[in-house]
Amino acid sequence: MAIASWLFLAPLIMCWSTSFAITSEQSTLLALKSHIIKGNSHHILAQNWSETASICTWMGVTCASPPDRVTALNISNMELTATLPSLLGNLSSLVSLDLSNNNFYGDLPEDLSNLPRLRALNLYNNSFTGFIPLSFFNLSNLQTLIVASNLLRGNIPQQIGNLSNLKEFYGGVNRFSGSIPTGIGRLRMLQYLYLGSNMLQGPIPEEISTLENLQEIGLSNNSLSGPIPVGMFNISTLRIISMIMNNLSGTLPSTMGHNLPNLEYLSLYMNNLSGRIPDSISNSTKLFQITLQRNKLSGSIPHSLGNLKLLDCLHLFGNQLTNDAPDQDLTFLTSLTNCPKLRDLIVSYNPLRGRLPPSIGNFSTSLRRLYISGCMLIGEIPDHIGNLTDLNNLDLTDNDLSGFVPTTIRGMLRLQGLSLSKNKLQGPLPDNLCDMPELSHLKLGQTLISGPIPNCIGNVTSLRMLHLNSNRLNSTLPWSIWSLKDLLELDLSSNSLIGNLSQQIEDMKVATYINLSKNGFTSTIPDAYGSMNNLMIFSLASNELQGSIPQSLGKMISLVSLDLSDNALSGEIPRALENLQFLTYFNVSFNKLCGEIPSGGPFKNFSYSLFASNEGLCSALDFPCVDRCKNKKKKNGRRIRFVVIVSVTVGALLITSFSVLSWTTRRRRRRASELPSSHDIKVMERFSYQELKQATDDFSEGNLLGSGSFASVYLANFDDGIHFAVKVFDLVREYGCRSFERECYMLSKLRHRNLTKVISACSNHDFKALLLEYMQNGSLEDWLYCDGLFLDIMQRINVMIDVASALEYLHHGCVKPVIHCDLKPSNVLLDKDMVGHITDFGITKLLGEEDSVVHTQTLATLGYMAPEYGNEGVVSSACDVYSYGILLMETFTRKQPTDDMFGGELSLRSWIDAMLPNAVNQIVDSTLMREEEEHYTEKMQCVSSIFALAMACTVQSPKDRMNMKYVLTALEKIKLRIISTLGSIEGC
Ligand SMILES: *[C@@H]1O[C@H](CO)[C@@H](O)[C@H](O)[C@H]1NC(C)=O
Ligand SMILES: *[C@@H]1O[C@H](CO)[C@@H](O)[C@H](O)[C@H]1NC(C)=O
Repeated sequence: MAIASWLFLAPLIMCWSTSFAITSEQSTLLALKSHIIKGNSHHILAQNWSETASICTWMGVTCASPPDRVTALNISNMELTATLPSLLGNLSSLVSLDLSNNNFYGDLPEDLSNLPRLRALNLYNNSFTGFIPLSFFNLSNLQTLIVASNLLRGNIPQQIGNLSNLKEFYGGVNRFSGSIPTGIGRLRMLQYLYLGSNMLQGPIPEEISTLENLQEIGLSNNSLSGPIPVGMFNISTLRIISMIMNNLSGTLPSTMGHNLPNLEYLSLYMNNLSGRIPDSISNSTKLFQITLQRNKLSGSIPHSLGNLKLLDCLHLFGNQLTNDAPDQDLTFLTSLTNCPKLRDLIVSYNPLRGRLPPSIGNFSTSLRRLYISGCMLIGEIPDHIGNLTDLNNLDLTDNDLSGFVPTTIRGMLRLQGLSLSKNKLQGPLPDNLCDMPELSHLKLGQTLISGPIPNCIGNVTSLRMLHLNSNRLNSTLPWSIWSLKDLLELDLSSNSLIGNLSQQIEDMKVATYINLSKNGFTSTIPDAYGSMNNLMIFSLASNELQGSIPQSLGKMISLVSLDLSDNALSGEIPRALENLQFLTYFNVSFNKLCGEIPSGGPFKNFSYSLFASNEGLCSALDFPCVDRCKNKKKKNGRRIRFVVIVSVTVGALLITSFSVLSWTTRRRRRRASELPSSHDIKVMERFSYQELKQATDDFSEGNLLGSGSFASVYLANFDDGIHFAVKVFDLVREYGCRSFERECYMLSKLRHRNLTKVISACSNHDFKALLLEYMQNGSLEDWLYCDGLFLDIMQRINVMIDVASALEYLHHGCVKPVIHCDLKPSNVLLDKDMVGHITDFGITKLLGEEDSVVHTQTLATLGYMAPEYGNEGVVSSACDVYSYGILLMETFTRKQPTDDMFGGELSLRSWIDAMLPNAVNQIVDSTLMREEEEHYTEKMQCVSSIFALAMACTVQSPKDRMNMKYVLTALEKIKLRIISTLGSIEGC
């Protein structure tokens, strides 16, 4: 009876349990859906995961059929923000779970370990915190475990060894601590092991040697110590060994290459490894990159390296490597000429002591960088160097090379960087340097070079850095030098240059460093120098300059250091210099200056010695050794009168100049209409509705680029292959019309390289459209949030500088300040060269002369809106500065201010504020900087200063916010700092 009824019930039970399973799986997924707070693709799930459809048709869900059970769930790359519901543990047939590249946060639910069939778990790049639950290590079918780029902490437990089927374990970029457990040796199937950028310490366990299937091991950027287990060099499957930036010590085994036939990458730089580089390294014949720099390796560089036919990059700098025979030819270089693919050879800063052999000319044409600086090289540079016709960078700085710079360098037409400073080279500067079309860094300082600076130097328009300091140059300064319009650094100090400093410098605008000190220049300081408003360090010290310090130097707003000491300058120190906000060093000692030392601005902080030995300087402050200004009372009285007179005069002047201004503008406009340029004709050309309709394929969906509150933008293709963007305004909404008119008006008036240009307009009573420049790279929003799009740190900085320049122009470069009012990532467009342009002037405000603020109805976008704008509708340029600050934060965190993570007490701003300055790594966009990345710390510092700047842009009180001039300057400085870091030589 019991059996009979069981038999009878069995189909029912099965039936019931199947249908229950589906409902339960459905409710599990619905629970997951309800956990999702938001995300760019949130609405997709909201629509697609519909209760009326079978879950097996849902996006990202894969079922095994029959029976219909969920076997795979892939909702990666959807920018979803959510915690994970424990219910997920109910999807008991799940084989693969992929949540990568989202913003899941909170702890990993213990219940995930109820998924006995799970083979692949991918949680890459989320914000999970806490420990990995121990029960996870019972998932014995797991083959792929990817938890990299989260905020997980704690030890990696011994139980990891229970995952006996594990093939891939990616745990990098988390906060795991403790040592690597010996249990890892039980993962016999393991092929990929990555634990870089954690806080792991202690030795690498010997047990790692038993991982006989291991192909890639990455343990970089931890605090691991002790030797690399010798047995690891017997894992013949290894392709990649990367353990950079640890404290590993000991030697490389002499047989290291015998059992590593598959090794391609050997990266062990920045450790404490000692001993020789084994000859056997070249038995790993597939080696592609060897980076062993910054260790304590000694002995000679093995000749056997010449057998590596695939070698691309060899970095050995910063060790104790020597030459076989001291003071003889560096024969290892001869061996390396046999590597047909060698591209990057850096052996600088080793005590090599030797000569460059003529065979140096035999390197393969693939060689791009050859750096042998600081190696005690002796002898001459062989003529054969000129055979390296494809070399981009040659650095032989800081050696004892003598003789002339070979004339054969004229053959090196691809040279971009030539650094021969700090040698005993003599003779004149070779003329043929002027014929190098790509030369950007020329460094020939601290040698014995003599004679003139050739006038042809002005032809080398590719130059960015020209260092000829501390030589015996004795000509006048060729005026052509000032036409190097992209030059960033010019150092001609400590030579015997004479004559005038040219007035003619209108081209050199981007320079940040100019040092002309310790020469024999005799002229006055040209007024024109004031236009170099990017210059940060400027020295004219120890010359014979006369005349007064020009007022115009007060316009060099980026100046940090100005040294005019030891000249024959006379007159007063211009008070205009008080405007130099960033000035931290100012030296005018040993001149013939007189009058009162300014006491405002940066002058409050200068030490008296910087004013010493002048004819009649006095100070209102109490400087020792500088006279106190006499007749203080009288002077004050005089000054008051002076102020009154000045303000009256200035007022009068203003009135006059204003009428002059409007007269000239009117006149100019009239002139323009009399003689329109071809450009203007093009701008005025009108397009008909029919033409636009045709070009946009009847305003089709396919051509829709985007839509906003008042308008939609379409791509228009004209017959001649030209693309424009057409912005069609929605006239049903009252604002659409106003918005059109405002934007038309604004854009026709404003011209700046970082504002979108209006090409034409089409307007009749029921259709209004603007024809705009088409930005083929879409918006900053796309680049931050779309799959497959990525901007690196320099690109992000550049775009933000573009936006800042546009704002600076709007706020300070127009007759009346223009306030954009709606700055956000979707309003920043990128052209084909990735140059940023601000667009959408629909709610722009124009401030009249008298009002620096206006009151208005709020239309701006939440999250980017300054508090005073949101609360009171007060608009001033400070509103844009606030939005810009938020934009900066978003660009570098890849978190929207409206992210659901924020709300209540926590805002994007307060979140960042809480993490500054020490925990920036927790807030920076995790895709921006990766494990094993070069200059990780420096880049972090750079981002940290960007966040600090963003903080200053977003302070509560509008009057305490920075203005765009300072923001732009500050950002450019940050950029320079990062350029100088990235320009160094760590990476292959
Ligand atoms: C290593 O390479 C050298 C030179 O190519 C060769 O003579 C030697 O037999 C190789 N050793 C092993 C163990 O493969
Ligand atoms: C290499 O340079 C030397 C010295 O300048 C020259 O004699 C030789 O012809 C050059 N070889 C080639 C292949 O250009």
